[in-house]
Amino acid sequence: MEISRKLPTLITPKEIFRELDRYVIGQERSKKAVAIAAYSHVKRVRAKAAGTRLSARKTNALLIGPTGCGKTHIARTLARILDVPFVVADATEYTEAGYYGKDVEVMIGELLLKADMDVEAAQSGIVFVDEIDKIARRSHGAVTGAGSRDIGGEGVQQSLLKLLEGRQIYVPTNVTQHWSKHDFESVDTTDILFICAGTFSDLHLYSSATKNLGFGGVGARVNQGRITEKDLLRYGILAETLGRLPVQVQMAALTDEELLDVLLKPPDSLLKEYDELLRLDGVTVEFEVSGLKEIVNMAQQRETGARGMRAVLEEVLSEVLFKGPELAGETVVVDEAFVTEQPKNEPEPAT
Ligand SMILES: Nc1ncnc2c1ncn2[C@@H]1O[C@H](COP(=O)(O)OP(=O)(O)OP(=O)(O)O)[C@@H](O)[C@H]1O
Ligand SMILES: [Mg+2]
Repeated sequence: MEISRKLPTLITPKEIFRELDRYVIGQERSKKAVAIAAYSHVKRVRAKAAGTRLSARKTNALLIGPTGCGKTHIARTLARILDVPFVVADATEYTEAGYYGKDVEVMIGELLLKADMDVEAAQSGIVFVDEIDKIARRSHGAVTGAGSRDIGGEGVQQSLLKLLEGRQIYVPTNVTQHWSKHDFESVDTTDILFICAGTFSDLHLYSSATKNLGFGGVGARVNQGRITEKDLLRYGILAETLGRLPVQVQMAALTDEELLDVLLKPPDSLLKEYDELLRLDGVTVEFEVSGLKEIVNMAQQRETGARGMRAVLEEVLSEVLFKGPELAGETVVVDEAFVTEQPKNEPEPAT
């Protein structure tokens, strides 16, 4: 078999999972699902390059989970593992064709850019569409009291559908500037893998099972049981869209233990980052478990998952970071007392 083009390396689902596992704490089911989808994708791409077309359906995926649980993190990590062009698109930046804003074709244009304008490579790339819940159809805006926020959502979904199902489309090749008529390239989206994600944080308002839970509190979390296709339809995701996202994974908010692991385990963990930063000032930081647990508690109170942890750590260490080189040679012990004694990030008192 002669293959002239550079092909993405075929690594097994287990290998993909193991690599994801180093960086993404918890979320076992989604890591597995994403590993399988990515593996099938690479197989498709390689088969196509060898002149055969797999009849298996494309395994586009939908990740649903609360903020800071790792949806974007999984996608970014996956992109590093696979050597295929990858782009993260924010669904809220796109508008229906003809309106002010980006047309969805720009998504593929950006992918093409990532592929160094190699159309073949772009055609086997991965597009991560974030905030997909924000382009839900809203015919009943009265439910949220924020009716106007989603105007155009359905239109964007319709345009996105074209990409999901696989079409020959014309994409602008000059995405950063105003393009002229000639700056277009024809790209086939048939083998592009789409991974969509959203929090669907107000889904409970549309779900029949949880409708009576009321606002806020437990209802604000997506951790409240299985989300069905029916819920998603009622929420305003079109049946056609769901039909083209055959892999659907629900992710849970990270537990205390998992947040602790987020601090400790990944090779690029926050603790290592700060440790490195302060080491340059000659300051040694010793993180004790009691301190870390307190940091996790503070992060959990913000209900922003792992996302809140950086802010908490930044606050907790702000005095140390501020003094920096003046503390050279010293060791700072970050235990529970240290964490609770740090000034909180509150507004300056009025004088
Ligand atoms: N499961 C996890 N394991 C390790 N780190 C995580 C995990 N989840 C989140 N993080 C960290 O928190 C940051 C924010 O997470 P991420 O961007 O993936 O959130 P998200 O689920 O996409 O939330 P949102 O819906 O708000 O976009 C990441 O950059 C990563 O550093
Ligand atoms: Mg995200």
